[in-house]
Amino acid sequence: MKTELFEILVCPVCKGPLSYEQVASAEALRCFICNMIYPVVDGIPDMFPMDSNSERLTKDEGWDAWHTKLSNFVQWRRRTWDGSARAEKLQTNISDMNERFSDFTGLKDSSKKIIDIGCGGGGIRTLLGECRYYGIDPLLLEEHHYDFSMVKGIGEHLPFREGFFDEAILSQVLDHCKSIDRLVEETVRVISASGTVNIMQYIYEPGTLLDRLYKRLLRVYYSIKGVKNLDTKTMSFDRQELVSFFQERFEKVTFFEYSSSQVFIKATGWKKNRK
Ligand SMILES: C[S@@+](CC[C@H](N)C(=O)[O-])C[C@H]1O[C@@H](n2cnc3c(N)ncnc32)[C@H](O)[C@@H]1O
Ligand SMILES: [Zn+2]
Repeated sequence: MKTELFEILVCPVCKGPLSYEQVASAEALRCFICNMIYPVVDGIPDMFPMDSNSERLTKDEGWDAWHTKLSNFVQWRRRTWDGSARAEKLQTNISDMNERFSDFTGLKDSSKKIIDIGCGGGGIRTLLGECRYYGIDPLLLEEHHYDFSMVKGIGEHLPFREGFFDEAILSQVLDHCKSIDRLVEETVRVISASGTVNIMQYIYEPGTLLDRLYKRLLRVYYSIKGVKNLDTKTMSFDRQELVSFFQERFEKVTFFEYSSSQVFIKATGWKKNRK
């Protein structure tokens, strides 16, 4: 694995320092404090937090429901990105939106260190110019070539040193994570005090009667086809709820309504002693 990546990693559970270990061709990182071992597979460190019984995640935090939604999301991804004309059109829409997001955030010409939390395949990176881009996600895409510094892990337990990054991106991840509170707190921990959290997020819109009817028909169609596990989201919120969440926690929050179902938010100045 890359030395520059190793230098910024810490244990996701206790934030202790790590040592690098290599036995034959197998690489791993071991926490000096809690002794947990994190394997490195094809140069990508697997920094999923584990508890002292070597479970994948600490049991008392109740991650089961999150795991279920995540595996539903994997199936959704397979169904959606099927190479059809519909998938192509969706990709064009997403690319347009990403372009606008990159303008809104001003990250485009940045030479900064950026962490993309819930980065997926890191598609957004192509819009960010010459920055030092790092990504973290619990899912690794099959046969995807990660040509950037990639880590496997979750936003609620980030395995990075305090204050290392200049900027963070949270793109379409808040409705997939387990705890927004925890994820945002962790995000703030790993960026500098003057850093920005840049959010691009799908928001709930009730939609017209026709939209709702269409969605219902789609569900009926899927159930006839035997497609189960349609529920991929851990939570939903409307624009006001989401903007207020950030306003309560940050000194300065600006937002842009990209569409009735998408909002961009920039948040700086974490309120440390918030009531
Ligand atoms: C809708 S995708 C967005 C991917 C990418 N950010 C984008 O905008 O194209 C949501 C991503 O969040 C990831 N995710 C789910 N739970 C997470 C968590 N607790 N921490 C970090 N990422 C998470 C999923 O694996 C998935 O890749
Ligand atoms: Zn540890």
